Amino acid sequence: MSTPVIELTGVTKVYQMGETEVYALRGVDLSVSAGEMIAVMGSSGSGKSTLMNILGCLDVPTAGSYMLDGIRVNGMTRNERADLRNRKLGFVFQGFNLLPRTTAVANVELPLLYDRTGRFTSTRALAVEALTRVGLGARLEHQPSELSGGQQQRVAIARALVTQPTLLLADEPTGNLDSKTSIEVMALFQELNEQGITVIVVTHEPDIAQYAHRVVDVRDGRILRDHAVAAPRRAADDVRTIDTDADGLRATALQEVV
Ligand SMILES: Nc1ncnc2c1ncn2[C@@H]1O[C@H](COP(=O)(O)OP(=O)(O)OP(=O)(O)O)[C@@H](O)[C@H]1O
Ligand SMILES: [Mg+2]
Repeated sequence: MSTPVIELTGVTKVYQMGETEVYALRGVDLSVSAGEMIAVMGSSGSGKSTLMNILGCLDVPTAGSYMLDGIRVNGMTRNERADLRNRKLGFVFQGFNLLPRTTAVANVELPLLYDRTGRFTSTRALAVEALTRVGLGARLEHQPSELSGGQQQRVAIARALVTQPTLLLADEPTGNLDSKTSIEVMALFQELNEQGITVIVVTHEPDIAQYAHRVVDVRDGRILRDHAVAAPRRAADDVRTIDTDADGLRATALQEVV
């Protein structure tokens, strides 16, 4: 078997808040293979973001070990983790986290300009390519305020993709979007997953989780349940169904008017 992309063993995270200790994770074991698409679910405060921050090398476990693509993350310096992050990971957040008053293409180009490996030369061309891949080739010069919420999230996904990550981590990427736009974003994640990127999505919504191949339920800092989804829904099909239904409704409304 190939090396897992993620291997967490006995991961604990304790936050020190003055005198009190907050146990955010209490011994998490998780193994993720290349090519998986996983939904992480759980109520507020269960530890999902803490888990994602550790997976994303933004934070380190208090105890337990983390291997990312065969590389031991424990014991790395902050700079080493930042380099690992740049090489392997893409992040998508609920609030898009785009720079305001900055064009879509400049937002997407940014991680390439910060990259210290010197891997990327024609940075603007790569940013244009990533935006085209998420269907925004015609919105390159738009600033975030000139884009819809779904389009802003697409820019954020392009920014996550542009460094060619192995793993895409998304913490409630559809939390600020309406249901149709949410399904469109999930269709994009499914497409990227089919192209070989491993995807982990945190969500509160069971409707969104059903697009993953595997669902991990977190409760009180532990993995309560970890199960495969027998037949994940196809988000692209659901988007088409919504469009067809909307067309049908419009046609009916028109008939009533005429
Ligand atoms: N930086 C921090 N310092 C102290 N405690 C924290 C910190 N971050 C999170 N916690 C605590 O750890 C626990 C888990 O928080 P976490 O943000 O991982 O939850 P979550 O599952 O992402 O919740 P939500 O669905 O609301 O985003 C919570 O009890 C929270 O209060
Ligand atoms: Mg959270």
